[in-house]
Amino acid sequence: MPDAPLDLPATQAAQLDWDATGQPLSRLFGDVYFSKQDGLAESRHVFLANNDLPARFSALGDGEQLVIGETGFGTGLNFLCAWQLFESQAPAGARLHFVSVEKYPLNLSDLQRALALWPELAPLAQQLLGQYVALHPGFQRLMFAGGRIILSLLIGDALELLPQLDARIDAWFLDGFAPAKNPQMWTPELFVELARLSVPGTSIGTFTSTGYVRRRLNDAGFKMRRVPGLGNKWEVLKGQFVGSAADAGKPWFARPPQRQRERRALVIGAGMAGCASAASLASRGWQVTLLERHANIAEEASGNPQGVLYLKLSAHGTALSRLIVSGFGYTRRLLERLHKGHDWDNCGVLQLALDSQEAQRQAQLAAAFPSDLLVNLDQASAAAQAGIQLPAGGLFYPQAGWVHPPALCRLLAEQPNIRLQLHREALQLRRDGQAWQAWNGTELLASAAVVVLAGAAEIKRFPYSAELPLKRIRGQISRVPATPQSTALRSVVCASGYIAPARLGEHCLGASFDFKSDDLGLNSADHAGNLALLEEISPDLAERLHSAQLDPAQLEGRAAFRCTSPDYLPIVGPLADRPAFLEAYAVLAKDARQVPDTPCPWLDGLYVNSGHGSRGLITAPLSGELIAAWLNEEPLPVPRDVAAACHPNRFALRTLIRGQ
Ligand SMILES: Cc1cc2nc3c(=O)[nH]c(=O)nc-3n(C[C@H](O)[C@H](O)[C@H](O)COP(=O)(O)OP(=O)(O)OC[C@H]3O[C@@H](n4cnc5c(N)ncnc54)[C@H](O)[C@@H]3O)c2cc1C
Ligand SMILES: C[S@@+](CC[C@H](N)C(=O)[O-])C[C@H]1O[C@@H](n2cnc3c(N)ncnc32)[C@H](O)[C@@H]1O
Repeated sequence: MPDAPLDLPATQAAQLDWDATGQPLSRLFGDVYFSKQDGLAESRHVFLANNDLPARFSALGDGEQLVIGETGFGTGLNFLCAWQLFESQAPAGARLHFVSVEKYPLNLSDLQRALALWPELAPLAQQLLGQYVALHPGFQRLMFAGGRIILSLLIGDALELLPQLDARIDAWFLDGFAPAKNPQMWTPELFVELARLSVPGTSIGTFTSTGYVRRRLNDAGFKMRRVPGLGNKWEVLKGQFVGSAADAGKPWFARPPQRQRERRALVIGAGMAGCASAASLASRGWQVTLLERHANIAEEASGNPQGVLYLKLSAHGTALSRLIVSGFGYTRRLLERLHKGHDWDNCGVLQLALDSQEAQRQAQLAAAFPSDLLVNLDQASAAAQAGIQLPAGGLFYPQAGWVHPPALCRLLAEQPNIRLQLHREALQLRRDGQAWQAWNGTELLASAAVVVLAGAAEIKRFPYSAELPLKRIRGQISRVPATPQSTALRSVVCASGYIAPARLGEHCLGASFDFKSDDLGLNSADHAGNLALLEEISPDLAERLHSAQLDPAQLEGRAAFRCTSPDYLPIVGPLADRPAFLEAYAVLAKDARQVPDTPCPWLDGLYVNSGHGSRGLITAPLSGELIAAWLNEEPLPVPRDVAAACHPNRFALRTLIRGQ
């Protein structure tokens, strides 16, 4: 499946002016962010009351959710007001999902200044500010109140990003500056998207009473009416969607129907993917059993002392590249909850440009992405940044760094709703009525209606997932003792390999790639190879580490298997019955453009989170959210085509279409 030829959304930070009363104004649009008289009261009236949210929040049951969609996140005032109301009205087991699209995000200091206007929102504003990091173009997910409040910020133009959203919105906040000042946004194309994402009964509120907006929303399937506004504003609009629900799209990527069932899940494998899947379900009130065959979690690929948050991006907005930007933001915000300096560090990552081809690729990336994500550094600046001499300049990712993966796994797995069972190896997976059972020979280990297979390439042992094209690639890292001279290293530096600043007196140097070996014993050839990678990164650092005197046969290290798919995208989502799938869609072998309306033969309740290759720190945590979104009928945390690009069904589809 080709990646969508999308341009990256053009974004830049909002340019603000502040009036005499301390209120923010947009320089670009020449308009206010909220009513000058009383922004809080206006927000509560136009968006909360006109969407009937006080009553709808109170009516939610445990385990239920309400999804709000907004155009124009701005200062987040509407979000915080909705959150505050939700806290006071909704039962403890309900969740609020807020999806907001923003083309010109405020920078952190402007956001801080704007939100200081509302002291009564301060406790919530502090939490928003604390998570307002690594917000780069595309889909960004932020979690609050232990996952009870989920914010999906879509950074980019509403007209570009809403078509990529897979969600069912219950209430719309139609904001986004006055139509006369921002006619580019208030278009029929936008209203068609609002309708696509609505179901009968979806409500909508907006501060404008413009006739054009009312008529076009009516045309799109909403029934709008004028109602009294507040203060100077005589009238505003509110309405309901009365059109018909949109077509679900291609059946093989559609959402599997979620029948009523106990919210219990079994996750097999406690590496990054399993811990993340368990955490995302547990934070939504699921009772999760997490099975791990070893004595502890994170004993395989996720067990290295240091892993790098390394963003291998494309300037062409490929699905993989957009997944990486979203996943990086999500992981990076999770790390804010860990002990900096011990469990992770945002020391920055420098990717050296050692040849002209790489330099050219990096120049394209620097042109395509904002400078708070990556910047080009010349050799002298790169060396100053890294604290050591370097053979070249390169791309610097200032918000990236290294992570101690077991600490991130522990953060995810240590939750009250997760029951971790160690020394439990699932050898067989069986279907018994509505339940999936994990067995070890004659011993039933656990069972549940939902199972997430998160055992990396080991999931191929189960017949249901045996055909997924997962491959193991052995990798070995070397643990190099720090020296007084090597502590000058201040950033992670990568070329063909990588080295991180010292953690607990050691640098992690990696890593070898071996497609053939099945042996996890350490070998000195790979240590020697890693030392050669160090020499390529920086002869100066190699000297500081006395690498010439290090005996590869004596070096300590660690070996594990990466698990990759042929297209380097992870495999995340619901599994279908492969023989039934091939039969149901056999017509595609003759004509790939057909979209039969045969429902996909899902293996009810069976999900996969695997294939994270060399970048699991970035992709696996967000993939846990993707699994939870499928299972809870929530907005997906990634664009529709990215979810499709990660979908397990893509391989069976290719088999049909290409006869592979
Ligand atoms: C040498 C090396 C260096 C790396 N460097 C980086 C890096 O710098 N940055 C980065 O982002 N990524 C890096 N990676 C990749 C990253 O480590 C992986 O993508 C990530 O750890 C994958 O997590 P996982 O949970 O899918 O797999 P794993 O961590 O391998 O976890 C799978 C777990 O499932 C368990 N399991 C399997 N089958 C069963 C069963 N039947 N029953 C019970 N338990 C089972 C296993 O015991 C294991 O604990 C590196 C990988 C290697 C090998
Ligand atoms: C009035 S402000 C929103 C106020 C906001 N809801 C709040 O609670 O603070 C309008 C916002 O819409 C954003 N915006 C304008 N045009 C847009 C577009 N085409 N796509 C996405 N966001 C847009 C602006 O950058 C601005 O932040």
